[in-house]
Amino acid sequence: MTNIDELRADLLARITQSNDPRSILKADEIKQLYTVIPTLDPSERGSYGKAVNALKVVLEAAVVERESTLEDSTVVPLDVTAPWDVNATALQLLSTEQGTQHPLTRELENVIDIFTRMGFEAIESRQIDDDHHMFGALNFPENHPARDGYDTFRTEEGFIPPAHTSTMQHRILKAGKAKLEAGGNIAAVSYGRVFRNEDVDATHEHTFYQCEGIFVSSDATLGQMLGTLRSFFEVYYGQKLKIKTQPAYFPFVEPGLEFAIEKPAALGGKPGDWLEMLGCGMIHPNVLRAADIDPEKYRGFAWGGGIERLVMLKYGIEDLRHFESGKLQFLRKFNS
Ligand code: PHE
Repeated sequence: MTNIDELRADLLARITQSNDPRSILKADEIKQLYTVIPTLDPSERGSYGKAVNALKVVLEAAVVERESTLEDSTVVPLDVTAPWDVNATALQLLSTEQGTQHPLTRELENVIDIFTRMGFEAIESRQIDDDHHMFGALNFPENHPARDGYDTFRTEEGFIPPAHTSTMQHRILKAGKAKLEAGGNIAAVSYGRVFRNEDVDATHEHTFYQCEGIFVSSDATLGQMLGTLRSFFEVYYGQKLKIKTQPAYFPFVEPGLEFAIEKPAALGGKPGDWLEMLGCGMIHPNVLRAADIDPEKYRGFAWGGGIERLVMLKYGIEDLRHFESGKLQFLRKFNS
């Protein structure tokens, strides 16, 4: 009897851990219980036989219970509200469509990367600013008509969502003054969203991105500026480019220029297709003075232009409005 009790405990333990509990019912130990019967005293055989049968009933019940536990753990409940297949493995779920970086974000990072490798510190511009940084510190006299050219929005409190990243110039100059006096240079790019109260069409948006550069040293030259810009554009488009400039008026630079590149043949251009990319020039002495930098000792150059037009040329995008449209058909073209 102790033999049967011990066997029961052992088999029950095996059944509750087995993934094929029924096979345990065929265990040799159970078969051997029967071979013992002929060796028993006839008076013991009846009770022995009952004990063996009782054992089999208990084991069978344990097997049924184990089987139902196993079944419960393998059946996945069907959730009809789930947006994915609940039976899919984690890997299959991962390969469903993922979001990607917006092309403007990616290209802006690319632009910043090129300038930081050239030694410029990158500073994000503000999205709300004031009249002083937008105009005053940039040598726009009060009531000067050049202010109108920027189609600035204003909040009721008189703040300005900046119409160009040049609003960062005064801050960069003030913060860099100590560096200049210690014998170093100021070399920074500022980038970010700008806003203009413009009618929207294929080449105009009320909200767009600009990147601005500023360099100040004791002997900065226009030639350095043109070399810097040429290098940037050649790296960005991955090829040699023809450049040209023409005079332009911005109150914060003197001389002021518009900088153009010839549209490369590889991007569908013909000789003589000039594309104006940005405004630039030597920083006006009044702008240096406003930041308490002596224009007799230091000189600098600055440039600023839109990011969208760079990207449009690179990818042959014909309409600026695609960028802010949120259209997946457009965005998916940049998945790579
Ligand atoms: N801020 C000017 C614009 O948006 C561009 C510019 C920047 C011109 C720096 C000269 C120097 O039109």
